[in-house]
Amino acid sequence: MCESSALPALTLELTDARSRMIADVREGLLRDGQKELPPTYFYDARGSQLFDEITRLEEYYPTRAERALLERRAMEIVERTTPRALAELGAGTATKSRVLLHAMTQRGPTQYLPLDVDGDTLELTAAALRTEFPALEVAPTIADMRDDVAAHGSRHPLLYAFLGSTIGNFDPESARDVLTRIRATLRPTDRLLLGVDLIKDVAVLNAAYNDARGITAEFNLNVLRVLNRELDANFELAAFRHHAFYNVEDARIEMHLVACGDQDVHIPLVGDVHFDDGESVRTEISCKYDRASATAMLENAGFRLTDWLTEPDPLVALALAEPAA
Ligand code: AVJ
Repeated sequence: MCESSALPALTLELTDARSRMIADVREGLLRDGQKELPPTYFYDARGSQLFDEITRLEEYYPTRAERALLERRAMEIVERTTPRALAELGAGTATKSRVLLHAMTQRGPTQYLPLDVDGDTLELTAAALRTEFPALEVAPTIADMRDDVAAHGSRHPLLYAFLGSTIGNFDPESARDVLTRIRATLRPTDRLLLGVDLIKDVAVLNAAYNDARGITAEFNLNVLRVLNRELDANFELAAFRHHAFYNVEDARIEMHLVACGDQDVHIPLVGDVHFDDGESVRTEISCKYDRASATAMLENAGFRLTDWLTEPDPLVALALAEPAA
């Protein structure tokens, strides 16, 4: 019945997503200089679960701080933007948008349009929300936010949420690109709600990405598991260590995986990748902002900041923005 053992070891299906992965890995690992992988590939089912665990860690303040801020200001956000639909880019398990959905569903019929790169997570999220909010219309889209940010079939006004400081995972040029593409899908009455992590005490920032239980390290290493499974690569996870630090000059956390010892990794359809002892692959940047840099980023992408929601001694902020005329 099952003939898979008779098949050659490498039967990788060349879907669009896989072609993109191969291109990304080639470009990022075969280059001269700093090796790099896009954070997109952290988020398979296991990675999404590890990230969920990160959000509950003592040291990892951003999720808690953003949720608290949302809880305090959700009604005000909803009253000000009067949305009939909520889109959420990088929805994940939708823990944060639940707060907005509570406020929205109290006012009238509501549509929720989650976008996420992981289809399994989306399905679970959609099912849970349909149970929790029986009147809510849920229309999920599987999308890699680097290509596709459109919330199809939305009613308007639409509140387009991009929370959790995921924008921080993009360098300035790519951030401008993503926000510009979001802007292009919006109508004049639609609004963007952007969650950003703020520049703060370096010790607090470093602790958030170096938790004592090592969950962030596991999350970081998960990208190698994903490449081993999806591309039949032979990364040895024990031969890489997690390294995360705040880069003051660029106002960003950088996460790296550092090679412990000289090694060669074979990745079919990509090639052989050499790591010198101590050489790293950068797996994520997480940019931190202040009001001025966030405003500039929004303006660069054709938005106008209408509200800057934060608190005294703030950890994170929510920027509400409208498409500039
Ligand atoms: C995906 C932006 C929420 O950059 O803080 C958490 C991912 N990486 N710990 C971030 C992450 C390591 C995270 N966000």
